[in-house]
Amino acid sequence: MTDINVPSGVTNKELIRWVTEMVELCKPDNVYWCDGSQEEYDRLCEEMVDAGTFVRLSPEKRPNSFLARSHPSDVARVEDRTYICSLAKADAGPTNNWMAPKEMKATLTPKFDGSMKGRTMYVIPFCMGPIGSPISMFGVQLTDSPYVAVNMRIMTRMGTQAVEAMGDGDFVHCLHSVGMPLEPGQEDVTWPCSPDPKDKYIVHFPEERLIWSYGSGYGGNALLGKKCLALRIASTVGRDEGWLAEHMLIVGVKSPDGRKDYVCAAFPSACGKTNFAMLIPPKAFQEEGWEVTTVGDDIAWIKPDENGRLQAINPEAGFFGVAPGTNYETNPNAMDSIKENAIFTNVALTDDGDVWWEGMGPAPDHAIDWHGKDWTPASETPAAHPNARFTAPITQCPVVDENFDNPKGVPVSAFVFGGRRNSVVPLIQQSFNWAFGVYMAATMGSEMTAAAFGNIGEVRRDPFAMLPFAGYHMGDYFGHWLDFGRKIPEPPRIFSVNWFRKGEDGKFLWPGFGENMRILKWIVERARGKSKGYETPLGWMPRYEDMDWRGLEDFTREDFEKVMALDRDLWIKEIAMHDDLFFKLYDRLPKEMTFIRELLLSNLWRSPELGLATPRPDEQEEVVMAQAQAE
Ligand code: OXD
Ligand code: MN
Repeated sequence: MTDINVPSGVTNKELIRWVTEMVELCKPDNVYWCDGSQEEYDRLCEEMVDAGTFVRLSPEKRPNSFLARSHPSDVARVEDRTYICSLAKADAGPTNNWMAPKEMKATLTPKFDGSMKGRTMYVIPFCMGPIGSPISMFGVQLTDSPYVAVNMRIMTRMGTQAVEAMGDGDFVHCLHSVGMPLEPGQEDVTWPCSPDPKDKYIVHFPEERLIWSYGSGYGGNALLGKKCLALRIASTVGRDEGWLAEHMLIVGVKSPDGRKDYVCAAFPSACGKTNFAMLIPPKAFQEEGWEVTTVGDDIAWIKPDENGRLQAINPEAGFFGVAPGTNYETNPNAMDSIKENAIFTNVALTDDGDVWWEGMGPAPDHAIDWHGKDWTPASETPAAHPNARFTAPITQCPVVDENFDNPKGVPVSAFVFGGRRNSVVPLIQQSFNWAFGVYMAATMGSEMTAAAFGNIGEVRRDPFAMLPFAGYHMGDYFGHWLDFGRKIPEPPRIFSVNWFRKGEDGKFLWPGFGENMRILKWIVERARGKSKGYETPLGWMPRYEDMDWRGLEDFTREDFEKVMALDRDLWIKEIAMHDDLFFKLYDRLPKEMTFIRELLLSNLWRSPELGLATPRPDEQEEVVMAQAQAE
């Protein structure tokens, strides 16, 4: 059998046992333990250049950076091939795919049997979160993909540092194979994977804290520390141990008096999370001393400390960001983060050895597209795949927060939830209390179809932006949030935002990007009990004069009123639509959800105008009766 080559520093018996067992199963030609060094990273990258998996970018334009092009069948997370294999089907809930663990293992074991033939198995020990943090967790990934190994070095604290910190302790077992063994003499391809979309499996066994991923080499399917461990497995660990693993960015907001508040914010995928995580405040704010710093752009783990104060860490060490649309105007900090030491996947290659994607700036006259074919601006297909990615160390971000690597984490002052709604939901609102906040987060979503003005389009609910990432029943997840808030003495305030509301002309009402600082300022000052607002039937909102408008004088009071307007009729419809989700989760839906829905509905029904568009039906009745009497 292949020698498993255990390095001298590795004493963890379970790790050695598991690697031995998986080597027997997957039958790699070699086993290589990653130490996480620069020398190792450089060597693996060079080997991939030789194999044609990587293209080295121009050392002048993009030092120490590489481009990979994936197989066209392997370009994104595959939600329909993602499974939560809890022992009981009911524990996975209706929003996850499920198969009994025994059945899934019986399906996958023959696939993993010999799946690494002709390849090297990389053993990748990693720590999610700062080394030494009580919030961090260890994992070990076994993979036959060197692309995964080098990406994991950027995305996690990987190698010897993780092995030493882990010692003989527990770790999440993460097995990954691209599912393309090589027979003797068989030539490799540049992006091995299982090309049949039905032959990819992203599988979680929450009771065993075990992940098996087969057939894909891309992103969250293959970098198992990210969505698989840090969200799906960690959310179940958090439920059992009393903490939260969330699809949230973390930003620090420093005000001119030097005080810093940290805000955790959840947005569904593709809603500009990376932009918000690296927001550049408007000039007037900067001059006054406001600063926004980045702790994380995708995931937050949140635990109460010994005083019940919530502390958050970013379990990741890098960005795995969507490239298209990223540019120096909308996100200079992201652009600066990827100036060097970056891996690009499925972007275009320019003739001078640099990268390009749609939305980066003027198109080059000629490039090589993500398929490796010639491309010009006249081409009918995009040069970069819409889900093309960059991988870069967070430490390269010019505004990385000083506490990014602090084992204690950062104290959480506020939670923000943002959907992508072109109607109904106002720009900013603060929930009355924790339970209302949980309701608001539970019912957030994105409008899938365009709504005619004054209407609601079809809404895809994405509770807490966790729909594809909760490792257990979504109803239990709401229950966990409700309980969690009850156990802490001063739960952070909860806010909802919506950057995407549109006006009658179909255009976005809110400029977004750096201007979101104005909202962030209201939020942190609100969390400190400083900024003003007024009570509406749905929560607290700022008046025009409660916000800081310096430098944005052309955004008028009327504009603000439009983006904040609450339309009673639409809200009544909206609340009725919440039932679609609630009925789906009914067997485990916390009672609070039903009662808060009732409370919101009666609040809306009974409240005086507050900008609500139409009079209440009983008011209409009164008018009709008064008219009848007058006649
Ligand atoms: C991501 C996602 O890639 O949420 O972060 O899909
Ligand atoms: Mn994400």
